[in-house]
Amino acid sequence: MYSRIAGTGSYLPEKIVTNADLEKLIDTTDEWIRSRSGIEQRHMAAPEETTSTMSIEAAKRAMEAAGVTADEIDFIVVGTTTPDLVFPNVATFVQAALGIHDTPALSVETACSGFMYALSIADKYIRLGEAKCALVIGADCLTRIMDWSNRSTCVLFGDGAGAVVLKPSEEPGILTTIISADGQYRDLLYYPFGVSYGFDQLRAGAPAGLTMKGNEVFKVAVNTLSRLVDQTLAKAGLERSDVDWLVPHQANLRIIMAAAKKLALPMEQVVVTVRQQGNTSAASVPLALDCAVRDGRIQRGQTLLLEAFGGGFTWGSALIRY
Ligand code: ACO
Repeated sequence: MYSRIAGTGSYLPEKIVTNADLEKLIDTTDEWIRSRSGIEQRHMAAPEETTSTMSIEAAKRAMEAAGVTADEIDFIVVGTTTPDLVFPNVATFVQAALGIHDTPALSVETACSGFMYALSIADKYIRLGEAKCALVIGADCLTRIMDWSNRSTCVLFGDGAGAVVLKPSEEPGILTTIISADGQYRDLLYYPFGVSYGFDQLRAGAPAGLTMKGNEVFKVAVNTLSRLVDQTLAKAGLERSDVDWLVPHQANLRIIMAAAKKLALPMEQVVVTVRQQGNTSAASVPLALDCAVRDGRIQRGQTLLLEAFGGGFTWGSALIRY
């Protein structure tokens, strides 16, 4: 038994913030942002929008694409690092909004690789026969945890949500997934406040928002993703040449290009949304997937490699016969 993606959906907030808009706020230039990251613009949630409202929209679109109704969903998992509240978790918000009752509803908090973790968990439940129709979401509202005076980080991130519906199938399907982490790197990328640590900035003496040692993150990300590509192909018994599409986490165009090079894939076979969306954290892989499915680039029967890397560090991948 395999799990297969029955439908995809996504949601981006209406408001767009361009690099030119940021030039008016902080000491930066469009040229710097584009040349370092590839990013031209990002979407920003309106004040009334939250991670759950974006998740709900993405979920509805994925369910419509899959042709499933709310009463069929029996497992909900959301990858997010910016939940609406400390609790209840975002998946229960999605569950309630869709009128679903008495199913597991959980969230996983693994930063940018949240969707890869969520997908891996849901895949196991389907393979074991414990779930028949899983809603898997990646969503984040990182603009809410930015220090808007820190030009090194605030130019890189955006908001959004992406979702897939997974169903059982005798044919693959998700061929394999890998999830992993290495906590020794936590100081390279983190948000300095939290529930048990405390939200009092003065008491903590911490930076004012998401903190990243970009250069060092870059190096570990490229090395880890490069290793991950090999591990994932080996686990599934496939060759690089078997991959039709790379659907990578959209942190930085240069990291994406390095991963494509490792696979010897031309950029025409890489789904790139970072220019228009920036880094949407856990939403970035399902957003990119939905984009390429809806515009017809990704076709049924093709082989996809999804991968992500984020704070922790955490990382994850999935090799999929779509
Ligand atoms: N505009 C203009 N100048 C800037 C800006 C800006 N927005 N930001 C930084 N600078 C300056 C710096 O102050 C520095 O100036 P200095 O040399 O006078 O000190 C200079 O530009 C170079 O800064 P670096 O940080 O060395 O620039 P770098 O080339 O490394 O690019 C970047 C920075 C884009 C962040 C890159 O390192 C990167 O993409 N890293 C990886 C990020 C990533 O992958 N994150 C993934 C996980 S995200 C998650 O999990 C939530």
